[in-house]
Amino acid sequence: MSNILIIDDEKSIRKTLSEILSYEGYKIEEAGDGEEGLKKFQEKVYDVVLCDIKMPKMDGLEFLDKAGESNPDVPVIMISGHGTIETAVEAVKKGAYDYIAKPPDLNRLLITIRNAMDKTSLVSEAKVLRRKVSRVDEMIGQSSAIIKIKDTIDKVAPTDARVLITGENGSGKELVARWLHEKSNRSKSSLVEVNCAAIPGELIESELFGHEKGSFTSAVKQRIGKFEQAHGGTLFLDEIGDMSLSAQAKVLRALQEGKITRVGGDKDISVDVRVISATNKDLLREVDEKQFRLDLYHRLSVIIIHVPSLNDRRDDIPLLVDKFLEDISQDYGAAKKGIDNDAVDELKQHNWTGNIRELRNVVERLIILSGKTITLGDVKSYVIPGK
Ligand SMILES: Nc1ncnc2c1ncn2[C@@H]1O[C@H](COP(=O)(O)OP(=O)(O)OP(=O)(O)O)[C@@H](O)[C@H]1O
Ligand SMILES: [Mg+2]
Repeated sequence: MSNILIIDDEKSIRKTLSEILSYEGYKIEEAGDGEEGLKKFQEKVYDVVLCDIKMPKMDGLEFLDKAGESNPDVPVIMISGHGTIETAVEAVKKGAYDYIAKPPDLNRLLITIRNAMDKTSLVSEAKVLRRKVSRVDEMIGQSSAIIKIKDTIDKVAPTDARVLITGENGSGKELVARWLHEKSNRSKSSLVEVNCAAIPGELIESELFGHEKGSFTSAVKQRIGKFEQAHGGTLFLDEIGDMSLSAQAKVLRALQEGKITRVGGDKDISVDVRVISATNKDLLREVDEKQFRLDLYHRLSVIIIHVPSLNDRRDDIPLLVDKFLEDISQDYGAAKKGIDNDAVDELKQHNWTGNIRELRNVVERLIILSGKTITLGDVKSYVIPGK
């Protein structure tokens, strides 16, 4: 459970914030002025601090300075009253994570806290294991198709252009999406994924846009949707071809106006989100069959990246096999297993209907079942012929 420290001299503000945040599942501690706040701050590591600006004994700016000296990794969100917006802006320049105005707007509060938490977890994970934090699997391949994809990623990632990624199952669409986010200016914010095919039609709108409490039978609690969660970052709509027409209409509006409305709500909420989508379907055919909106298709496909099937770039297979031998052996805590050349040649001939995912699984199977080195015989007996 995440810990939040609320420092404010107004008891009613502390009480309101504390109630809202406890309800959201956070553990709350309170302090009535900067001095008391600092004492608590130094005794324990909090995930986020909410701090008023005008307070007796020690004000918010002084707290911010001292907190920064004692633990600079904990994000401090300033709570700003009427007369203190300018001070709040100054505080942000001095290192406060962000500020929220009094009386606090619930949505903005929760989003700001969530983003701040993401930042903390990144910072602390970075300390434990720097490599893991930003690790996106390397994209292996020297075929012209892969070189072109990497080149497109480099060009397109830093823009906010929407990208539609097409390709067969297991060909690497998600990996392309991750790299687009990783190399973008939004990489410090979240990449939020939604698998549109995995969510029942009647729930997809609530998943994407959130809902207000009581808006339908099972909506016992207000919920923030993926669009809001991705605010400032990237939203990855996977299997977009499986989205219902009514959800498509709402996504279209979100893209056109940069605004969403929660299910059962009447308020417009602005969101700043870059959308990347992926599909293994032929969307234009879906358009012909009236299963997909043409206007949405055009909005989503400013840039199209087609990931080729593995069968269309067999020359990359030896490199991929080598990489997977290394990764998987490492996962098993073993030395990298060798493979005979004729065994690799045989793998090059296979019909890879499951693409790279299938290749990876096959290499794992071979590592487990074969002897010291993987031979042609192993490939022939353990790789089920796909032809
Ligand atoms: N060029 C590549 N180099 C190394 N690994 C890759 C490459 N492309 C894909 N992979 C790996 O192959 C697996 C499948 O890729 P990914 O999940 O991106 O495919 P996908 O197209 O999204 O599949 P699906 O359509 O089933 O969702 C992942 O483990 C991914 O890391
Ligand atoms: Mg995928």
